[in-house]
Amino acid sequence: MALSNKERLLIEDNLNAEYLCIRKYQQYAAMAQDQKLKQVFTDLAAKEQKHADTLKGMLAGSNINDQNIFGTYNSPQGDFSNVSQNLGFTDAQLLNDALSTEKHVSSSYNNAVLESADTNIRKQLQHIQKEEQDHAETLFSEMQSKGWYKMS
Ligand SMILES: [Fe+2]
Ligand SMILES: [Fe+2]
Repeated sequence: MALSNKERLLIEDNLNAEYLCIRKYQQYAAMAQDQKLKQVFTDLAAKEQKHADTLKGMLAGSNINDQNIFGTYNSPQGDFSNVSQNLGFTDAQLLNDALSTEKHVSSSYNNAVLESADTNIRKQLQHIQKEEQDHAETLFSEMQSKGWYKMS
């Protein structure tokens, strides 16, 4: 089934958000001081890549060429893999920003789910949305374990 224009636009928006998440988490893995947190960000980057691949598959399945959107400038020029300084961001700030990103992305998927007319597409989007909520839970647990999330 061909995607409606609305479905397509929402999928492309989410794909852009995934590309940003991948880049952000790769960079945060390099910037974080804590070794476990580096691994958390590395794992998240890989998971976001799978989401991007799923969304690209949806577009490809409708013969939509996504090469003109944000994937093409996903990677920075030069080698940013060994950023050893944290550029003034604390681990708490990295976690806080990542959690807020996941909240935003999850609600963006919520829109896409509600606007999706195709059952198969909707199920895939629901699955991704649940995983974004899992990412938020992972980040929340990290914050809580370090005493950085005030519950009251
Ligand atoms: Fe994602
Ligand atoms: Fe995520």
